[in-house]
Amino acid sequence: MNTLGRLLVGALIALLPAADTAAAQDLPLRSYAERRGFHVGAAVAVRPLRNDAAYRETLRREFNMVVAENAFKWSELRPSRRRFDFRGADAIVEFARSNGMAVRGHTLVWHRQVPRWLVAGKFTRDEVADLLRQHIRTVVGRYRGKVSAWDVVNEAVDDETGGLRADSFWYRALGPEYIELAFRSAREADPDAKLYYNDYSAEGMSRKADGVHKLLSDLKSRGVPVDGVGWQMHELNGFRAGAEHRENARRLIALGLELSITEMDVRVKLPASADDYGRQAEGYASAAEFCLSEPNCKALVLWGFTDKYSWIPGEFPEWGDALIYDRNFRPKPAYSALRRALAATGP
Ligand code: G3I
Repeated sequence: MNTLGRLLVGALIALLPAADTAAAQDLPLRSYAERRGFHVGAAVAVRPLRNDAAYRETLRREFNMVVAENAFKWSELRPSRRRFDFRGADAIVEFARSNGMAVRGHTLVWHRQVPRWLVAGKFTRDEVADLLRQHIRTVVGRYRGKVSAWDVVNEAVDDETGGLRADSFWYRALGPEYIELAFRSAREADPDAKLYYNDYSAEGMSRKADGVHKLLSDLKSRGVPVDGVGWQMHELNGFRAGAEHRENARRLIALGLELSITEMDVRVKLPASADDYGRQAEGYASAAEFCLSEPNCKALVLWGFTDKYSWIPGEFPEWGDALIYDRNFRPKPAYSALRRALAATGP
């Protein structure tokens, strides 16, 4: 572009209102987030991080927070009772460090991806408690100062009843006490990391959300060190964050908790149309606008960022295209909508 062109563009940009000016600059998502002291993040899979240059470059450019999609789970960290395998987790933590990104640790206790040797091990209650304590101390201790928030307990509340999920190795082995044990062990291992409870389908007002609120209220009343609640936000196209999310956020914040959106994706019925992608964009924008307008909402983390690597098609046949970049790393309308929300000046 010649000098006259640059002058004309500069003059045009100067005429735009602040928000549009920022958006018109087409900065990466993280640039807008960092201006707000906010985190915009994505779940990371080790294999593409190692093998896909476009994946690494997009991740590095656009996000200031990462979370391991699987590398921090028991099944990946604990191939046997006596052995840890930190290679995947270390690769993600090192990538984050070298690119100025915060790290969420996901997850210390979950009813899924529990290794076979543990489930089939016929351990006593005390042995399981010791294994859990040792696991948390080892893993949280290793990443002390490198992981800013941990999903200490993931998905402990039953979808239907709102009570504690009974189909859990941890619940069967230790009873409800496993939750307090996990949080107290994590706090002992890292006095500074934010300790989260993380779940899905408990973002709006529902029986399950009531159950999460009851669990957290009980934990807080007993002085259990819980700092935040993660809303996974795995949504169907047509989703909008609204009044019931605001109502639920208010009662959780009243418990002294912070909030993060931790695993967002908005799946679309395939084959998707341009209208579908437009509605998807509105869903992402509404979640970002919600979180940015809630002082205690600290981060918006997506569960991946490109449709090339997403858990959705494997879990929900006929559904997909849930993220903000397409399979060729081209930004979708959802990316632009998310960027506009991040770029918009506050109220
Ligand atoms: O690592 C093994 C590999 O060694 C083996 O060869 C291969 C084939 O069996 O499996 C690999 O493990 C897979 C793992 O992903 C790593 O790729 C598991 O089978 C597979 O079940 C696992 O799926 C993950 C799922 O959690 C497990 O429940 C998804 O990638 C991951 O996106 C998903 O993430 C969860 C969050 O942690 C919690 N919230 C819900 C979210 C979606 O389910």
